[in-house]
Amino acid sequence: MQSNSPDVPRRPQAEDLAEALGAEVCPAGFPVIGARMLRDPAALGTLRDAGLARVSLGGGENGWMVARYDAATAVLKEPGLRGEHPLAQTMRTAADEEVCDEEMLFFPPTEEHLRLRRLISRQLTHRRVGGLVPRIQQEADRLLDEVPHSEPIDLVQSFCRPFPVAVLCELLGIPMSERRYIRNYVYGWVAEYGEASSVTKKAGIELAGYLRELVAERRKSPEDDLISAMVSGDEAETLEEDVLSAVRLLLIAGHRPMTRLLTEGVELLLGERDRWDRLRREPGWLEPVTEELLRYVTPTTLASRYAEEEVEVEGITLAPGTGVHCALAGVNRDPAHFENPDTFDPDRSENRHVAFGLGHKHCLGAALTRAEVRVALETLTARFPQMVLADVRLSGEPRRRQLPVVLRPETCPVRH
Ligand code: HEM
Repeated sequence: MQSNSPDVPRRPQAEDLAEALGAEVCPAGFPVIGARMLRDPAALGTLRDAGLARVSLGGGENGWMVARYDAATAVLKEPGLRGEHPLAQTMRTAADEEVCDEEMLFFPPTEEHLRLRRLISRQLTHRRVGGLVPRIQQEADRLLDEVPHSEPIDLVQSFCRPFPVAVLCELLGIPMSERRYIRNYVYGWVAEYGEASSVTKKAGIELAGYLRELVAERRKSPEDDLISAMVSGDEAETLEEDVLSAVRLLLIAGHRPMTRLLTEGVELLLGERDRWDRLRREPGWLEPVTEELLRYVTPTTLASRYAEEEVEVEGITLAPGTGVHCALAGVNRDPAHFENPDTFDPDRSENRHVAFGLGHKHCLGAALTRAEVRVALETLTARFPQMVLADVRLSGEPRRRQLPVVLRPETCPVRH
């Protein structure tokens, strides 16, 4: 994986990089890469120029970062980087009564990861997603029926945030009466828009208890949902702890990036009237628009790998356990790979983005994501062709991201 290109700039020292990024320096002397930096085009450009760079992700996690397309795609597929997170063995990830750090659900021990991935991928198939589309449509319509159409509303609160949870509840087969509880749990975890926070220990224990009961019920009398499919028929032997981990992983993995994609996506499309109108007129445009939104927004900014054994990456030998973190938003805007990378252009001729990661951990929800975006955009453009952004701040928590819109400005007494 060595890069021999003559135009690769000299790898800056950690302090130089920290200065260039305007980043704090951790006790080990590495720049601390915060969540904002991973979305900032200028910072991502600096990281791309740095090649493979030593960084801290905060919270004591130090490792290396890559933001270039070629290097990152090689890292994500590198067999020597299929190791465990250094804490994987100590942080038991199943619905453990002692641990409620949902982030660690993404980094189970290898054996457990293989079992979970197999379990989810065998059941979360294209076929299941296809069969779910009418119910995804129902959920979209229900949410949009409930809000006022002729006055400003916050589309994040009314649609972009609840829609992905509603779809997950449909997928998993969470009974209607318990959906509010699940929604509050997921919202509690994602405390602020885009900023993760661990749920409280009490909430995690409660959820585990609730899911155990639901799983037992579905084992006894299976229904047409993912939980039933994971515990009946060929999967009847599945460990309860694995089903619980899979459900919690799906609830977390399937919510946060979807909300961001829909929010940023609708804002981008409404930002230029022609885009909104063309989307309505040309259903064939939906697919390239979705892929370009995935590239341009890159809702999940990091994909991490850990060295299983000594491995060479970009000419540097990494010790077992070392983390290599791919800054996906930088990768998706690498000018060496995408022409005019900072331009939103659904008509670009090639779009091999890495918004879903790559390799042995690539996203298991890609088909569901595409189905959700399709239903959301088709429904919004068909039902609200005149929809506009509204230049107001609505009531609500002051720091929370809003997307004020008027769905039917033609019926609104005040023009927006
Ligand atoms: C905008 C939507 C989404 C984006 C951008 C996204 C992106 C990602 C990324 C970048 C990863 C890590 C990949 C890697 O390390 O190579 C990932 C993992 C994962 N995603 Fe998604 N995701 C999205 C939606 C979903 C949905 C809707 C689900 C399921 C309901 C889902 C389920 C998962 C799971 C289970 C993993 C863990 C895979 C593993 O560890 O093996 N994702 N996703």
